Amino acid sequence: MKFRTSLTALAMLPILAHAATDETGLRLAKQNACMTCHAVDSHVVGPSFKAVAARYKDDPNASAVLYRKIRMGGAGVWGQTPMPPYPQASDQDLHAIIQWVLAR
Ligand code: HEC
Repeated sequence: MKFRTSLTALAMLPILAHAATDETGLRLAKQNACMTCHAVDSHVVGPSFKAVAARYKDDPNASAVLYRKIRMGGAGVWGQTPMPPYPQASDQDLHAIIQWVLAR
């Protein structure tokens, strides 16, 4: 019985860890005002984060490309509306948000 309980607990660990990352990513994206122009499922001013994840799913440089784009801003990948630069956001926040976006 004890054995079975700990197995169940172990099996749940990845699920809990995943939920925590999801929450952190969304919280940071909201804190940095990303969600004023983006949504997970639909195009707002910028592309949906699901569309971004799909576009870069086979790109090994995705994290670096997106990091640069968010830091420097720019247009031309999804249309002519520019994304503003984010020079003030912390590296830690940006990396967490990018991992969250790519996992949508
Ligand atoms: C003022 C509106 C606006 C805000 C705020 C904004 N974005 Fe964007 N974002 C855009 C637009 C517009 C594009 C499309 C740019 C293009 O076509 O190259 C974009 C593109 C992107 C892309 C795809 C980049 C690419 O080159 O494929 C990512 C990832 C992204 N945004 C993440 C974020 C994150 C993370 C934040 C918050 C730190 C954020 N955005 C805040 C408007 C915004």
